[in-house]
Amino acid sequence: MTARPHPGLFVTLEGGDGAGKTTQSALLEEWLTRQGRSTLRTREPGGTEVGLLVRDIVLHHRGDIAPRAEALLYAADRAHHVETVVRPALERGDVVIQDRYLDSSVAYQGAGRVLGRAEVRDLSLWAVDGLLPDLTVLLDLDPAAARARLNADDKPFDRLEAEKDAFHARVRQEFLALAAEEPDRFLVLDASRAPDEIAAAVTARVSDLLAH
Ligand code: TYD
Repeated sequence: MTARPHPGLFVTLEGGDGAGKTTQSALLEEWLTRQGRSTLRTREPGGTEVGLLVRDIVLHHRGDIAPRAEALLYAADRAHHVETVVRPALERGDVVIQDRYLDSSVAYQGAGRVLGRAEVRDLSLWAVDGLLPDLTVLLDLDPAAARARLNADDKPFDRLEAEKDAFHARVRQEFLALAAEEPDRFLVLDASRAPDEIAAAVTARVSDLLAH
C-alpha cells in the first residue's frame, strides 16, 4: 500500500441519484466521530459559496448548457472547493467525506453526453492539481430502483434528475467501468442492501485505511 500524500483521509461517495449517498455519509461521519476522528462532510457541486452559485447554474438553469461549458462549470466548482476546503482539511488530518467528486464528472459529462471520458477526467485532474480520493465508495443501484426511491421523496425533480432512465443506465455502466479500472481505490457496494449493512462494509474499509 502506498503512503498517502496528506495526514487526513479523502473518502468520496459516488453513484446515481437516489443511491443513498447522503445516508451513508451521515453514518460514516457518526462512526468516525465515535472513534474520535475529526471529519469534514462536504459535497460537489456546491461545497463553497462560489460552488453554490455554480450548482444553481448546472442544476436549475432551464435550457441547454453546451457540454464543454457544463464540464468546465463542474471543474470550476471542484477547483475552488479542493483548494479552499478539501486540501486544507486533509492537511489538518481530517477525514473528508465527500458526496460526489471527479468520477461523477466522468460518468455524467463523459459517458452521458458527447465528451470523451479521458478528456473529462484530465480536465478535472488539472482543476484539482491531481488530487485523487484515497477511497471511493460506489453505491451501485439499478436506475429503476433509484427512480422509485426519488419518486417517494415528493420533491420536484431537478434538471438532471428529470433525464431519461437510459441516461442513468449509461451513467451506472460508466461508474462500474471506472471502478473496474481502479479496483484499489473503489469499493463497490450493492445499494439495495440495508443501510446498516452497507455502512458496516464502508467502516470496515475506512478503518483498514486509517490503520495504515
Ligand atoms: P447531487 O449533489 O447528488 O444532487 P441532489 O442530491 O440534490 O440530487 O448531484 C447533483 C447532480 O449533479 C447529479 O445529478 C449529478 C450531477 N453531477 C454531474 O453531472 N457532474 C459532476 O461533476 C457532479 C459533481 C455532479
